[in-house]
Amino acid sequence: MNLSVKIGNMTFKNPVLLASGCFSKHTLDFTDVSGLGGIITKSVTMKPREGNPPPRIFETPCGVINSIGLANPGIDEFLKDELPCILSSQTRVIASIAGADVDEYVELTRLINQTDVTGIEVNLSCPNVERGGVEFGKDPESVKRIVDSVRNNTSKIIICKLPPLFDNRKIVSAAEQTGADAISLINTIPALAVNFETGKFEIGGKSGGLSGPAIKPIALYCVYNAIKSTNLPVIGVGGIMNARDALEFLLIGAMMVEIGTGVLVDPDIGNKIVKGIEEYFCKEGIKDIAEFQRRSRF
Ligand code: FUM
Repeated sequence: MNLSVKIGNMTFKNPVLLASGCFSKHTLDFTDVSGLGGIITKSVTMKPREGNPPPRIFETPCGVINSIGLANPGIDEFLKDELPCILSSQTRVIASIAGADVDEYVELTRLINQTDVTGIEVNLSCPNVERGGVEFGKDPESVKRIVDSVRNNTSKIIICKLPPLFDNRKIVSAAEQTGADAISLINTIPALAVNFETGKFEIGGKSGGLSGPAIKPIALYCVYNAIKSTNLPVIGVGGIMNARDALEFLLIGAMMVEIGTGVLVDPDIGNKIVKGIEEYFCKEGIKDIAEFQRRSRF
């Protein structure tokens, strides 16, 4: 059986990636990621960011609302401390970048291009920042400008992380026209939680982004629409908690999947999902992902 998949000129040993923002170098103390397709680092910005006021995470019955606000140590510290440790993990590493403007995306790309990462995920979908984030990802012209500038500064693979738009054709096409190698979607869905007793918001930044099992059907919808409108490989993200969830995204045509909230519940979830896919393929006598997808009716 062969679970490998290709994005651009890069082969990944299987289709399972850990999503940006759900692990750090410390997660590597709890799990061996060498059996995964790859891992995507927390979005980095040029300058360190403190992030949004606490509380930043609120658990809902079927998911999690977060408003981290892109807290990160900034590119210098990331390159000096976080990335070398993550690069020693024997799997492919994709660096996620989040700029406040085109120039910042370019500068981040130039710096990351000098490292051994496999690719860059361009975060165009964070719902928790005042400048950029999802505002870029909703606007085809911004997507074109940013992706084009990133493309001009690296030959590494570029993945565009897009927001949960129900009609994403224009955005997907903007990413495709300007040289992205793949798109990943969806990021979290804007959400609120209120405390009935205190009369306050549960999240310090007021609103946040919902992730986890609650959003899987919406993610499937957006991913399916994207697949129908592009020739680019599509990476499905949203509420994947087990191998069956991952297989559903592959079944509708996704090339890979990213696991986010699931990692917060179980740092080893990626390995369990890879094993579950292997067991399913073995049981059904399926030799690779292309054959699995040919068997589907989508
Ligand atoms: O708040 C955050 O840092 C979230 C980032 C994202 O969803 O891209």
